[in-house]
Amino acid sequence: MASKLALFVFLVIVAVAAPLPRAESQLGDLGFIRIDGTVFCSINGSIGANGAVFPNAIVQLRCGARNVVSTITNRSGVFFMVVLDPLQVTVPFALTNCSLVVATPLSTCNASLANLGGTLQSPLQLNGTIVFGRLRLTTLIPRGFQLTRAT
Ligand SMILES: *[C@@H]1O[C@H](CO)[C@@H](O)[C@H](O)[C@H]1NC(C)=O
Ligand SMILES: *[C@@H]1O[C@H](CO)[C@@H](O)[C@H](O)[C@H]1NC(C)=O
Ligand SMILES: *[C@@H]1O[C@H](CO)[C@@H](O)[C@H](O)[C@H]1NC(C)=O
Ligand SMILES: *[C@@H]1O[C@H](CO)[C@@H](O)[C@H](O)[C@H]1NC(C)=O
Ligand SMILES: *[C@@H]1O[C@H](CO)[C@@H](O)[C@H](O)[C@H]1NC(C)=O
Repeated sequence: MASKLALFVFLVIVAVAAPLPRAESQLGDLGFIRIDGTVFCSINGSIGANGAVFPNAIVQLRCGARNVVSTITNRSGVFFMVVLDPLQVTVPFALTNCSLVVATPLSTCNASLANLGGTLQSPLQLNGTIVFGRLRLTTLIPRGFQLTRAT
C-alpha cells in the first residue's frame, strides 16, 4: 500500500513537472485525494465487542451510479485509495455526491449477519489538506459505515 502511494506521488510529480504549458493552464492546480479507513465486521461501523474487522472486503468510491475506484481491505480491515482531483472527482463533489460502499456482503465476515440484506455504506468527511506548491493532498475519511438497504 505504501508503494502504491509512492507510485501515485511519483506519477503526480511527473504530471505536474511535465513541460505542457497549454495543458497546465487548462488543468489548473492538481491535487490528489487520499481516502482511508477501517471497515469493522458490524452493522453500524462501530468496533464490535470482540473487535472484529472486515478483511478482504471490496470498498468502492461511488458517486451516483459511477464507481470511481475500488480497493480491498487488508487483514486488519484497513483500506486505502487515491483519486486525482479534479480529473476523477473534486473534494466538494466527493463530500456531497460520493460515498464509500462495501460491495462484499457482511455475511462474508460473520455468517450470523447473513440475512440482513443491504451493504455497509458511509459518506465522506474531510480530515485535512496539505499544499505543496501547486500540489494539493487532501485526506478524506469515512463518516461512519452503516448497513444500508439497496435502493
Ligand atoms: C452498534 O451495534 C452493536 C450491536 O451490533 C450495539 O451493541 C452498539 O450499541 C451499536 N452502536 C451504535 C452506535 O449504534
Ligand atoms: C493493514 O494496513 C495498515 C495501514 O497500511 C497497516 O498498519 C496494517 O499493519 C496492515 N495490516 C496487515 C495485516 O497487513
Ligand atoms: C453534486 O451532483 C449534482 C448533480 O450532478 C451537481 O449538480 C452538484 O454540483 C454536485 N455537487 C458538487 C459540490 O459538485
Ligand atoms: C457475529 O455476529 C453476532 C451477532 O452480531 C455476534 O454475536 C458475534 O459475536 C459475531 N461473531 C464474530 C466472530 O464477530
Ligand atoms: C486525521 O487527521 C488527524 C490529524 O491530522 C490524524 O492524526 C489522523 O491520523 C487522521 N486520520 C486518518 C484516518 O487519516
